Amino acid sequence: MTTTADQSLWLSALGTPRPPLTGRHTFDVAVVGGGITGLTTALLLKRRGLSVVVLEADRVASGVSGNNTAKVTALQSTVYSTIRRSHGLAAATDYATASVSAVAQVADLVELEGISCDLRRAPAVTYAYTESEVQAVDHELITARQVGLPVRAGVDVDLPFEVHAAVRLDDQLTLHPVKYLLGLAAAIDGDGSLVCEHSRVLDVSGTRVSTADGQVDASQIVIATHYPTLDRGLFFARMELTRAYCIAARVSDVPSSLAISTGSPSWSIAAHDDKLILAGQSHPTGQPVVEPFRRLEDFARKHWQVSEITHRWSAQDPTSYDHLPMIGSYTPGSSTLFTATGYMKWGLTSGTFAGSLLADLITGKPNELADRFSPHRISLKSLPELVKKNAEVAVQLVGDRVLPADATSSEHLPPDQAHVIRDGLSKTGVYRDPEGTLHAVSMRCTHLGCLVRFNAAERSWDCPCHGSRFDVDGEVLEGPATKPLPKREAR
Ligand SMILES: Cc1cc2nc3c(=O)[nH]c(=O)nc-3n(C[C@H](O)[C@H](O)[C@H](O)COP(=O)(O)OP(=O)(O)OC[C@H]3O[C@@H](n4cnc5c(N)ncnc54)[C@H](O)[C@@H]3O)c2cc1C
Ligand code: FES
Repeated sequence: MTTTADQSLWLSALGTPRPPLTGRHTFDVAVVGGGITGLTTALLLKRRGLSVVVLEADRVASGVSGNNTAKVTALQSTVYSTIRRSHGLAAATDYATASVSAVAQVADLVELEGISCDLRRAPAVTYAYTESEVQAVDHELITARQVGLPVRAGVDVDLPFEVHAAVRLDDQLTLHPVKYLLGLAAAIDGDGSLVCEHSRVLDVSGTRVSTADGQVDASQIVIATHYPTLDRGLFFARMELTRAYCIAARVSDVPSSLAISTGSPSWSIAAHDDKLILAGQSHPTGQPVVEPFRRLEDFARKHWQVSEITHRWSAQDPTSYDHLPMIGSYTPGSSTLFTATGYMKWGLTSGTFAGSLLADLITGKPNELADRFSPHRISLKSLPELVKKNAEVAVQLVGDRVLPADATSSEHLPPDQAHVIRDGLSKTGVYRDPEGTLHAVSMRCTHLGCLVRFNAAERSWDCPCHGSRFDVDGEVLEGPATKPLPKREAR
């Protein structure tokens, strides 16, 4: 799975691939997906004496877990005021309990397993970049205090511009996410447990998991594929995918804090070694975005002395309709199939918490937060939002069919651009690569049939309905779609 056309700051650490799964095996638990959720779950289960296999379609940590800004923090923008609004203070307090325990869990695992991943303690900061954001920061300060976080107010943050208000939580973490995940994978491998790469799971039937070259029978299965890929549970109808963009820039004065502003656009700031990391320009997947990397670059150059932009990457993360992660059984009442998703771009923390909760559920250990995060909870307060979102999807399904095509032929399509041509009753998306070759695909998303749209920043066809993404030849980059867009003849 690829989240981005370019390499993130972290992916060069991936190293030598692990062998794929071959033959038939039996394990206590099969974990599908080698991101933070899958690897944390697998390691915690192994530490409780179970044998586990992790089956990763691509490389461990090559998903969103290797394409983020590397903040591991319990202070997460305005998450507490948002959850309080949807669910009340008790839910916000539970989210804080989960997040604080996850930050501690990461530090513990680094120490216990001796993982070398450039771990650094740093303050997390939610700040107001403009006057209009002050109220949101103030609300977050109040709510964060109410949920028991030892936050402080004050604008004395190490950013090279004026902030209008800020809330700060000390002693949070940043690390090299790929090195951390490789450390988890190394700790899982051995003593009857195994991590396999290039082992895409093609079928889950009962408690049997199949890849192209192998098969695993397990008592329990965890689908940790970021977006739950099995065609059941209707997760796609309860989540929205948001895409965001990141750059790394060599600057003379790197900030130490892990900061994020509350406005739109939001400016998320972190650092690694001599590099500033800047992220933002979020938008629902499949919606148009204008030069996101240039805007990030402009912001960086406005506030820092930038000598070089070293990396550009992007990724997406799902948000559930009621703004709480979904962690637990895949379908109501299942005791053999589990999943976790919906981290709202804070999954290094929430994915770690998900690992602990799933390990408890699988080993039958009571966990008082299980109901709160159950994927099958019903939030009456958030139902109108769910209905509205699905109505919008229905409009996309119907409305896109009547949109006009851009052109009747691709003869004059310039290099590195895409357009839409009508092909009988259907539409074809055509991209001309920099060498002049045309790539033509059907624009009908293979998930439920919305029309995909071209993302010029990533050179991909993205679906506005549930966030599936395809490369210019139609191959699936991100689900819920599992089948490629059919190729068409370019004309
Ligand atoms: C721009 C951006 C910045 C972010 N920054 C932060 C941050 O600073 N702090 C933070 O806490 N969170 C951050 N996040 C969110 C965080 O990175 C994610 O929530 C988290 O990494 C998700 O982890 P995961 O394990 O669920 O998914 P992933 O890391 O995507 O792992 C899922 C894995 O499953 C594999 N897979 C998929 N299908 C199959 C299959 N059929 N068979 C086998 N394997 C399969 C994929 O290849 C992938 O490796 C950010 C997100 C974005 C978009
Ligand atoms: S992702 Fe659901 S229709 Fe495209």
